[in-house]
Amino acid sequence: MPEIAFRGVHHAYDDRTVLSDVDLTLTEHRIGIVGANGGGKSTLARMINGLVVPTSGTVTVDGVDTKRHGRQVRRTVGFVFTDPDHQIIMPTVAEDVAFSLRRSRLSKTEREARVRDVLDRFGLAGHADHPPHLLSGGQKQMLALAAVMVAEPRILVADEPTTLLDLRNTRTIARTFAQLPQQLVVVTHHLDLLDDFDRVLVVDGGRVVADGAPRPTIEFYRESVS
Ligand SMILES: Nc1ncnc2c1ncn2[C@@H]1O[C@H](COP(=O)(O)OP(=O)(O)OP(=O)(O)O)[C@@H](O)[C@H]1O
Ligand SMILES: [Mg+2]
Repeated sequence: MPEIAFRGVHHAYDDRTVLSDVDLTLTEHRIGIVGANGGGKSTLARMINGLVVPTSGTVTVDGVDTKRHGRQVRRTVGFVFTDPDHQIIMPTVAEDVAFSLRRSRLSKTEREARVRDVLDRFGLAGHADHPPHLLSGGQKQMLALAAVMVAEPRILVADEPTTLLDLRNTRTIARTFAQLPQQLVVVTHHLDLLDDFDRVLVVDGGRVVADGAPRPTIEFYRESVS
């Protein structure tokens, strides 16, 4: 797996500190991040592909600094937002997915095949020519994920990918995640999603307050709120 490294990371928006003393080396296959609202999870997740760069300290992905080489890092790290409307931009579902391949060296035929394949995997094959705004909230979420995965990033970071989903689509996402060969970092309030993950971080008040196997860390989190 790739290595995501946080070294002495501190982050403030304006002068308000939202992350402190974050030192992490993430090499596991599937990593979950949980914790209370406003704790700093999204900020931490966004640092992995350089959407947010630390006020001090460094974040690197396989040694590549997110601050100095953001574009290169973003080719390695795909990011899925909570709200799919933030990332759906093209007039049809298939075009939206194809847009992610605009800079690839694939032929037109290869691109079309990749788009078809990913739409099929994410349950959107019947919607290829539909305008995305006609999709349901959950289908849009699947489209946002498909549009990131079609570019085959080595790492996928997803910030609350199941928040808008019904039970069936939540299961589809869980199954999809379980089968992904890529390294995966998921921020979620759906604790069940993390049962078979390799590592879970609990983030609270801008710090990593627990870190380890899913069972003890989730237990720690449950107890901290009871
Ligand atoms: N762009 C921003 N500008 C200023 N403050 C921000 C910005 N983004 C987040 N914050 C603040 O940083 C803190 C941490 O926010 P963050 O979104 O990382 O938390 P979170 O753990 O993801 O919370 P939630 O579970 O509600 O999504 C919050 O106090 C939030 O108000
Ligand atoms: Mg968040």
